[in-house]
Formats: sequence, structure tokens, C-alpha cells
Amino acid sequence: MKVGIVGAGMVGSAAGYALALRGGASEIVLVDRNEALAVAQAEDIAHAVPFAHPVRVRAGDYDALDGAGVVILAAGVAQKPGEDRLSLLSRNADVFAQVLEGVQRAAPDALLLVASNPVDVMTEVTLRVSGLSAERVIGSGTILDTARFRSLIGGHLGVAPQSVHAYVLGEHGDSEVLAWASARAGSEPVARFAAQVGAPITEDVRARIDEGVRRAAYRIIEGKGATWYGIGAGLARIVQAVRDDQRSVLSVSMVTPEVEGVKNVALSLPRVVGGAGIVATLMPELAGDEAQALRRSAELLGETADRLG
Ligand code: LAC
Repeated sequence: MKVGIVGAGMVGSAAGYALALRGGASEIVLVDRNEALAVAQAEDIAHAVPFAHPVRVRAGDYDALDGAGVVILAAGVAQKPGEDRLSLLSRNADVFAQVLEGVQRAAPDALLLVASNPVDVMTEVTLRVSGLSAERVIGSGTILDTARFRSLIGGHLGVAPQSVHAYVLGEHGDSEVLAWASARAGSEPVARFAAQVGAPITEDVRARIDEGVRRAAYRIIEGKGATWYGIGAGLARIVQAVRDDQRSVLSVSMVTPEVEGVKNVALSLPRVVGGAGIVATLMPELAGDEAQALRRSAELLGETADRLG
């Protein structure tokens, strides 16, 4: 499957690199208004291919997206130190208005995978502008937050994050909800597993993990200016679920008809991702405070999207 990536900055190129290593595409086309950057990124990624899986990697203009099965939208500005994701909205909405015209002219049938922040509202913007059906406009959402959550729980319990089944819901941002009530390690609720391995999940542990997930991007941005490896790998994971029609359960963003009473809002829930895009949405069991927090997150996202008019 040909995969297009619009925006050859750190996130877009990290996604291309992750796709090349993972083997998630037969061809990767990088598009950027800075053509020299796209060419350099494509050539650099192509030099990793001999160590990974055969894939054609090149830079091109929008026309080169012709026939793409998925187009990753990673164009726009990124958070600066201390800046929250929602504050990027007006700048990135303007960028998307131009980008989507070129993408849809070349690849009208491509599934759109939104990476640019604020990714939830940008997913709604993309749905509105593209006119595609909601299940074919996927935002990376909290796939990265869920990975962070699983890594920190796994680190505390002494198990691989792949054996932790826990999700972050709602906004990919400050109002996100760590769904502890439905978190499992193996087949056990995490609290039960923790007791069995003598690593109780105390309030302090929960607070440490919450801060570790919620503030991860801010910490990394303070240290290196931006994040890219985690989100790049998350985007490649979503592409592979689509390409292979895996029907994997991933916490990704999509404009959802109703969440905790809030209508038509893009946010993350566990969703079944396959060849047709999002084929089902799951609502995990939530504790009272988690349901309230999810409603608040949905309300915040709805209010932010309303400001776009
Ligand atoms: C982060 C960016 C992708 O959370 O929003 O690292």
C-alpha cells in the first residue's frame, strides 16, 4: 500500500522511518512545501531500508499521492515549550485548508490519518473539509498516551507494556482521562495483579503515573524541543492495522456521535481499526470520576471546535 505523508518535519519523517522499519507500506511519499526537506528526509529514510523491509521511499508533490491508501497529515506548527496543544488550532486549521485541497485532488479515496495538534479538533476540521465518512478520518488521538500509560503501569508491575491493557480516553491533551477502572495486566485488573506481585498501586503511584503520562510531551519538549519517535511509531501502528485489515483495538480519535452526552465530538475511545478505517467503537467500564472527566474532556473539545465556526 502506498502511504503519503504530508509534512516532512520531525513527526512526518519519524512516521515514515517507523513505517520503513515496520514494513507497513510498499511505497512512502513525503510531501512538504519545503521540497528540499522532503527530498532529504526521503533519502535518509531510504538509507535505512536495506536494514529493514523493501519499500520505495521518495519525495513528491501532491500529485505523487495518487493511489495512496492512507495519507498521514502531519503538516503545521508544533507546541513550543509550555504551550498547550489547543493553542495551535487556528494556525494549523489554516494550513489544513490548503493541504487537504491538494491531497483530495490526488488521492480522493485515501483514508486520512491526522497527526497535527490539536489532533482531535484537527480531526474534526479534516472531516468537515474532506467530506469523507467519519470512519475514514482517523486522528492519532491518545494512541501515544495509551502507550505511555501502559509503559508506566508495566514498569511498576514488572511486566511488558504489551501485557498491559489500559487506555487513555478523550482529548489528546491536558484533559485526557486515564481509565484505571478497566485497566488489566494479563487477564487481571491491575490492582489485583499489583497485589499478587507485591507492588500495590497506591494513590502516590497513581499520581506518579498520571503525571508521567499527562506531562510527558511537556517534559520532552523542554529537553529536545519536540516529540517525534513515540508519535511516529503510533502512526505506523495505525497504518499497519488499516493496511492488513487487522481489526486491532487502538485508542484513536474520530468524530463520535455522542460521548457522555456531548454530541459530534472528535476524541479517543478504544476503537476497532481495519481496512475500512474505524469499524467499531468500544465504551470501557468507567468509574464515576472517570465518566465525569470524560464528559469534561468532550465538552472542552466541543467548545474548542465551536470556536472554528
Ligand atoms: C505528544 C505529541 C505528539 O504527546 O502531542 O508527544
